[in-house]
Amino acid sequence: MTVEDRMRAEGHPLFPVVAAALVDDAGRVLLQQRPQGKALAGLWEFPGGKLEPGETPEGALIRELQEELDITVPPAALEAAGFASEPLADRHLLLLLYVIRGWSGTPRALEADGLIWCRPEEMEAWPMPPADGPLVRQLRAYLGFS
Ligand code: CDP
Repeated sequence: MTVEDRMRAEGHPLFPVVAAALVDDAGRVLLQQRPQGKALAGLWEFPGGKLEPGETPEGALIRELQEELDITVPPAALEAAGFASEPLADRHLLLLLYVIRGWSGTPRALEADGLIWCRPEEMEAWPMPPADGPLVRQLRAYLGFS
């Protein structure tokens, strides 16, 4: 049973999901395109996903980035940068955003339909899931954009 399933069974309204803003040396941020067949297919998102049983948010994000992008992130590289709360049909999505500036390996789209490095001020060009909009604004503030 996933954390999501257990919390739903217990009637807990929160659905926790973690997301990463990987920032490269040029100040660009990685977005990935959600694959066909999944919810929100075709939209561009910060990489990440749901927590598995017993995981911390940070542990879940490190696992997701290895699975989705084939990169290794040291725990000390995670910078808590923002969150968004978004109503879904029967629960409330709680999306936690971490900025990451250090990792090893080169991101590869193992699960996504595509990857794009984009400037924080140009993210509106890439349609994103509803909950990601507030995260973009918080990311810009965190990185020093107005
Ligand atoms: O990767 P995993 O299957 O664990 O999770 P996911 O399908 O990527 O994310 C679970 C849900 O979180 C999605 O169906 C979206 O409702 C939401 N989500 C989002 O709104 N924005 C993101 N950047 C990532 C996930």
